[in-house]
Amino acid sequence: MTCNNCNGKNKLLPPESYGQLDTYIETLHISRDNPRCKDTLIQTLHKAQGIFGYLPEEVQLHIADRYAISHAEVSGVISFYNFFTTTPRGEVQINVCMGTACYVNGAEKVLQEFQRVLGIKSGEVTTDGKFSLESLRCVGACGLAPVVTINEKVYGKVQPAKVQEILENYLVESGEEETVNA
Ligand code: FES
Repeated sequence: MTCNNCNGKNKLLPPESYGQLDTYIETLHISRDNPRCKDTLIQTLHKAQGIFGYLPEEVQLHIADRYAISHAEVSGVISFYNFFTTTPRGEVQINVCMGTACYVNGAEKVLQEFQRVLGIKSGEVTTDGKFSLESLRCVGACGLAPVVTINEKVYGKVQPAKVQEILENYLVESGEEETVNA
């Protein structure tokens, strides 16, 4: 399928990543004449987020063109599902659960401590791209409240005093020791 308005002029992300995405889309046999092709949009967005790490506007436009739909349709789907993100995430993705059980057990103070130590707000990434911080709704581990997930790992009953120690594990792993604020 020909891309009409995404010929690469304004793209900043790697062409090989777009190539990877296009190869995937080709396997879906998208057709402008087939309205059912939109059924695969969510899985394509998942794939794109896996490739690029997030879904910035240039990727959204590329996908909209491939599906022959408007940018608004693509961005509407992205904003509806909270597992999609339009901002880059860090190598270490920290999610603080702010569901009811976690909130009543002090999750807000835990989030504040992550913000203080990392020097970023929820929704931001550290300038070195190492850490990103977000808050989530219930992650289904309420018995461990307050819960923090870091990449694939789940931390239960997290107290603000433990935040520094948790982060230092990730700094030691990568040999960095001076990024966080003591
Ligand atoms: S409210 Fe946090 S895990 Fe359920």
